[in-house]
Amino acid sequence: MKVLVVGSGSREHALTWRLRKSPQVLDIWVAGGNFGTAQIATNLPLSPDDVRGIVGTAQRLDIDLVVVGPEQPLTDGLVDELREAGIAAFGPDKAAARLEASKSFARRVMTESGIPCPDYRVFGDESAALDFLRAHAGRVVVKADGLAAGKGVALCSTVEESVIALKGCMSDRIFGAAGETVVIEDWLEGVEVSVFAFSDGENISAPVAACDYKQVHDGDHGPNTGGMGSFSPPAFWTADLADQVCREVLSPTIEAMADRGCPYRGMLYAGLMFTRDGPKVLEFNCRFGDPEAQVILPLMESDPVEIMQACIDGTLATTPVNWSERPHVGVVMVSGGYPGAYETGREIFGLDADVSGDSTSVTGLETLVFHAGSQPAMNADGKTVAITSGGRVLTVVGNGDTLEEARARAYSRAEQISFEGSYYRRDIGSLNVGNRQGILT
Ligand code: GLY
Repeated sequence: MKVLVVGSGSREHALTWRLRKSPQVLDIWVAGGNFGTAQIATNLPLSPDDVRGIVGTAQRLDIDLVVVGPEQPLTDGLVDELREAGIAAFGPDKAAARLEASKSFARRVMTESGIPCPDYRVFGDESAALDFLRAHAGRVVVKADGLAAGKGVALCSTVEESVIALKGCMSDRIFGAAGETVVIEDWLEGVEVSVFAFSDGENISAPVAACDYKQVHDGDHGPNTGGMGSFSPPAFWTADLADQVCREVLSPTIEAMADRGCPYRGMLYAGLMFTRDGPKVLEFNCRFGDPEAQVILPLMESDPVEIMQACIDGTLATTPVNWSERPHVGVVMVSGGYPGAYETGREIFGLDADVSGDSTSVTGLETLVFHAGSQPAMNADGKTVAITSGGRVLTVVGNGDTLEEARARAYSRAEQISFEGSYYRRDIGSLNVGNRQGILT
């Protein structure tokens, strides 16, 4: 089977790595890609957002399955166009991807179907939104309705903060058209977790859960990033909790989307807050999470091609989806200065043991290194090396019998890798940070 993965991040390297292990996969191409994917597949000089280019290339290469990583091409209808061209594609179509592409659409689906979520209001008019904020005591979340590269959500402790966030969206248009409409929600307290399940439009698979670390500095301080690390599975993620999430959130969402005539086929990612009143949906995403994919794809025991094909064909009910429970911790290494300005073009050292992205490291510990902002380049000695090309550069994953062991392995491997200005948090996988032990206060 010939597979084309769309995307350039660590999530897509992890997807390519996991698909490569399927006995059904002969060849893999990556639309975009990075130094890591280039070691295990063929990178194509295509933007992951170039819908026409990807469809044309998939036809030319006679691709059997396209796996779409990021939300933008899903929102732009890449899966619809591929389907139209007779090419099987994993991921929701444009109508179903609205669960992520429009926060107001997602909230409407939730309220109309009784799926637990915070109280919210939708505004297309700035002065009405300002009046609401000034009259609303308490902490709120201001969200740009559309896609904003993960930056469109502002947690606001004061009226002043919420007004700044709102004006940023609606007057300054810092997120462009994505901020024409805003959703203002109650700020939920509790335990945050990312839950993932496959769906074929009717059925859902067994879910898997992970916790991520969004802020740039230890102790959850500093500005938000695309993700500084993750671990899976959380200790508080029990079978009972998984059942509750399926019953109260995932299954009703799949049913609601089917009832609306836009069945959801692909990976459904529910960002949840476990509150004293049970799980509530913070947001839905229409894809694997990043950096969660890097710690859950190594847990996937079943054949990814079979699962993805079953999502497309509507046969998920009879397809096994098994997840290992072995603890995995992923530490994201970034360029100094990220998420602000940073430099690129720095050679990455210490990758020799795992250029294939799958290794037993030089210390004999089990680790994986997934690339994101890295590209191949020729060094002064004429040797092909990896150089940095983005803010988030690598996710270094360790696994172990315990979370502590997985964490120690990830950090021990990260310490062997270096590039000028590299930075990573030192507390990924530590349960004492934030509320990751699952204790409701
Ligand atoms: N983990 C955040 C995201 O993938 O959007």
